[in-house]
Amino acid sequence: MSKLRCPDTVNVLLLGTGGREHALAWKLKQSKRLGTLWVEPDANAGILDLGRACPEPINDVFRLCRWCEREQISLVVIGPEAPLAADLATKLADPPNRVVFGPSRAGAQLEWDKAFAKQVMRAARVPTGDARVFTDAEQALAFVETRVDGCVVKATGLCAGKGVVVCKTVAEARAAVQDCLVKKVFGDAGATMLIEDLLSGPEVSVLALCDGRSFWILDAAQDHKRVGEGDTGPNTGGMGAFSPTPRATPELLRIVERDVLVPTVDALKRMDIPFRGVLYAGIMLTPAGPKVLEFNTRFGDPETQPMMARLKGDLVELCWATATGQLDETELSFDQRAACCVVVCSKGYPGSYAKGLEIEGLDEARAVERAPGEDIIIFHAGTARKGGKVVTNGGRVVGVTALARDLGRARDLANMAAARIRFEGAFYRRDIGRSIESTPAPALG
Ligand code: GLY
Repeated sequence: MSKLRCPDTVNVLLLGTGGREHALAWKLKQSKRLGTLWVEPDANAGILDLGRACPEPINDVFRLCRWCEREQISLVVIGPEAPLAADLATKLADPPNRVVFGPSRAGAQLEWDKAFAKQVMRAARVPTGDARVFTDAEQALAFVETRVDGCVVKATGLCAGKGVVVCKTVAEARAAVQDCLVKKVFGDAGATMLIEDLLSGPEVSVLALCDGRSFWILDAAQDHKRVGEGDTGPNTGGMGAFSPTPRATPELLRIVERDVLVPTVDALKRMDIPFRGVLYAGIMLTPAGPKVLEFNTRFGDPETQPMMARLKGDLVELCWATATGQLDETELSFDQRAACCVVVCSKGYPGSYAKGLEIEGLDEARAVERAPGEDIIIFHAGTARKGGKVVTNGGRVVGVTALARDLGRARDLANMAAARIRFEGAFYRRDIGRSIESTPAPALG
């Protein structure tokens, strides 16, 4: 019998406007404890169909707090990294009346400052690639001349997924340093950079809810970052994702918990930083064992879409328990079916693209013929409503998530549904999750 201390009715404010937040809103709506779901006024059309638009600007914390009091908001769920870096988790919390799901700015520093994350990992002996920190272009350029086996050049700040350049040659590394420290293409986010060893191996993301003490490791999901089929072309925010993944074996998850999650959270605790929220470790399965590539301190996008489609349990309770140190009192399990999410994108993405194009076929996509036990869920990402029509409003427009007995069937269903979504220049990858099916589970070194 659960002893979770949580109000019977919880009014929730969800921050964030994209596909991840539509998936969170969809799952929050299923909670028996949800009172009113409030969302950002400029959220996508799918989110605004599920929640009421908060009338206050999100960046005016004083007004937002007063509005939260008036509407008796007792839980704020923060989706993206920017409000975490702006410390909204601390500013909006008003214990014991209002709790916030998401770490403080100090905890989120693991994501918004990659040099800090390296320092914490070193102190906690978390396995990760060696790296050096630079702010001076000449010193960085001299250093990359010695990196003849390749390196990874990283802006340390938040760059919307664009600040990491994998360099196979010294010439590539020189260009990446110039972009970051001389041309300042990432602005302040690239004023400090890391030059890191180039690791090799398959990647897997391990996400856990952490309440400062206990963890719930979530069934892993994996995304495809490259824009083209066969993992080719430039990086994107994520062209699709699937869950579960055979790479995340129970043995791997045990190792990651023991060698990564626990020591990292303990190291933060020693710095007086209680970490409460999602700890997302991007791991590379190197021949020498799993090593951390980076941390995020929020759910992944689009990984959250197949993940929420499979999550069993009450998301309001899970967020509440995470924020209040009560994860021990919650239940968590996952649907045994496989979920595959295919993201339909605007022509030109990840470069520039048009907005405002009418989207047709959303209902047809939901109605794709399927067998009993199969489901299709459409999560909006970059959409808006204009004159009663749904139009494009971003590079990643909608995510189609299908649930089926295995990944291959889930992908086929998601592809069939994605084919019915029409707007000028729409494109998507048809091979989400295919490479994993032919890859054996990795050796763990
Ligand atoms: N899909 C990668 C991320 O959310 O950071």
